[in-house]
Amino acid sequence: MPEDLAATLAGCAGGAIPAGIALMRLCLAGDEDTARAALAQAIAASEGPARERLRRVERLWRTTPEAFTLVKRVARTSEEEPAETDDVARWAKAFDTAAAISPEASVALYSLGRPDLLAAATDEVVGALRALGLVRPEGHVLDIGCGIGRFVAALAPHVAQVTGLDVSPRMLAEARRRAARLGNARLVQGNGRDFAGLAAAAFDLALAVDSFPYVVAAGPDVVAANMREIKRVLRPGGRLVILNYSYRGDQAADRAELADLAGRLGFRLLRAGERRFRHWDGALFDLERLP
Ligand SMILES: C[S@@+](CC[C@H](N)C(=O)[O-])C[C@H]1O[C@@H](n2cnc3c(N)ncnc32)[C@H](O)[C@@H]1O
Repeated sequence: MPEDLAATLAGCAGGAIPAGIALMRLCLAGDEDTARAALAQAIAASEGPARERLRRVERLWRTTPEAFTLVKRVARTSEEEPAETDDVARWAKAFDTAAAISPEASVALYSLGRPDLLAAATDEVVGALRALGLVRPEGHVLDIGCGIGRFVAALAPHVAQVTGLDVSPRMLAEARRRAARLGNARLVQGNGRDFAGLAAAAFDLALAVDSFPYVVAAGPDVVAANMREIKRVLRPGGRLVILNYSYRGDQAADRAELADLAGRLGFRLLRAGERRFRHWDGALFDLERLP
């Protein structure tokens, strides 16, 4: 069995990798027959709770037969944009293309394009924000890289105002559709570097779910520009919650980089890479904007 498939299946059997993530990785790893055979082999070799976790992947695949093709198609969009455009623009175009294929998979590949799986993951994140005391009726929230607006729509009924910011026009069109009936939701197209049009000290919470990896991929100057702008638009004591800082697969490097940025730019790092989700393997970073 190829090493990456074996690692995914072992992680899933051990309970460290949720079923949706495991299936997404199986789909990304190689050809469909090899992935199916590896899953069957892992199920046959396991027992007890490990076997049940792997069977959950099997059931998910059976009820989502298009998963393999969809995951591959959406993943390919990030490889297809030519390198000559600048990195922010390149990601904006890639996400435009991905959103046209599957809005749900474009923001969370592990949803396998299924609204029910995406909603479960969204609810879990909102629950975590609530547990941290960050969802308040008087709160003003900025969702950076809001995508199709799943958090804008989920948070709007519970806070005073939500602003979704994104670089992809197609994502924003989807978000506008989802937020059409919400009187306290605003959607803004940004340039990925500055937050022009957003007032200083206007927000209590800045949220970035799976969007910082693209900021990081655009380079250190883009990261620093975004962090400075986040500091500007948050009120003193306001919080920045980043769910996944990068996709480098090096959590120690992510922690060190955010600790350094926090120290240099006037934040306190309260949580550094906590993993607390059942439906998703996102790492949570929580920073407080210092006065
Ligand atoms: C994987 S999607 C996640 C969307 C949303 N946060 C969610 O979890 O549903 C990443 C989003 O980040 C946006 N994005 C990428 N680079 C960005 C940047 N520099 N500034 C703002 N948004 C960006 C993309 O257009 C895309 O909508």
